[in-house]
Amino acid sequence: MQKGAKSLVDEMKRLATRGKAEELVGRLYRAARALREPVPFEEKFRRSDLHSNIYEPTWSAADEAEARLLIYNTDSEESFVEGGKADAARLRPYFDKGSTVLDLGCGIGRVASFVAPECARLWAVDVSQKMLDLAAKRLAGCDNVTYLHSRDVAMPAVPSASVDLAYSLLVLQHLEREDAFLLLEELRRVLKPGGTLVVTFPNLLSDEYLGSFLEYVRDRSKRVPARARAYTPEEVGRIMEAAGFEAALDPGVEIRVVAHPRPPT
Ligand SMILES: C[S@@+](CC[C@H](N)C(=O)[O-])C[C@H]1O[C@@H](n2cnc3c(N)ncnc32)[C@H](O)[C@@H]1O
Repeated sequence: MQKGAKSLVDEMKRLATRGKAEELVGRLYRAARALREPVPFEEKFRRSDLHSNIYEPTWSAADEAEARLLIYNTDSEESFVEGGKADAARLRPYFDKGSTVLDLGCGIGRVASFVAPECARLWAVDVSQKMLDLAAKRLAGCDNVTYLHSRDVAMPAVPSASVDLAYSLLVLQHLEREDAFLLLEELRRVLKPGGTLVVTFPNLLSDEYLGSFLEYVRDRSKRVPARARAYTPEEVGRIMEAAGFEAALDPGVEIRVVAHPRPPT
């Protein structure tokens, strides 16, 4: 245990054994607030070990069939695979046989199963261990894949400036906006200076996602943690810029973004 954490635990034990419940609760609140404060990158990772993974329970699929529904809203393996193949084909211009590629929120490997055979190394990263276990089955033939159980907004095991292509499809929309932004910064950290990021966001200006938004408004029971948060293209442009990227947007029902880390000025 780190020295700071140990003295905190000792202090809390002291308060607890002396029956000082109110002081103990106050100390816990201060500690929780400190965990949420903006902190330098290395410090954030040290602290992220202490984080609970708030997004994991939502994505604990029992089996392949439930995972397909959660991920792609389909019970058909065929359409799941066809969708993955088409998404991988759209990524093809941005990597080659020598590339290190990272799939953030890889799910059960819908896209990664087509990317891994075409690159040198693939990081399959997901907040859900269950998804990673199912991905490992799907990608059993690929020995160039490293599976990483990430934290909510951090993937500390991935070295900085080491990735040629990072992609995150149908993922950021399921996070609180602030957490999506932190993950974008994390993606910027792991990308090489000339690397590429491909991400998608639901377009609030589309009939489909305006419709979903109105459903969440009218029916509280649909406002589940994994609901899709929609963005306007203008918001996405500003957010990408603020996270340190130069981005080109292709706004359809999904806003597809191809971005590169902006060189430090
Ligand atoms: C809709 S699925 C998309 C899966 C995959 N990208 C695809 O297109 O097939 C969302 C995935 O993001 C993962 N996820 C959710 N929150 C995450 C987070 N904070 N960090 C990493 N992965 C996350 C979920 O576990 C799930 O596998």
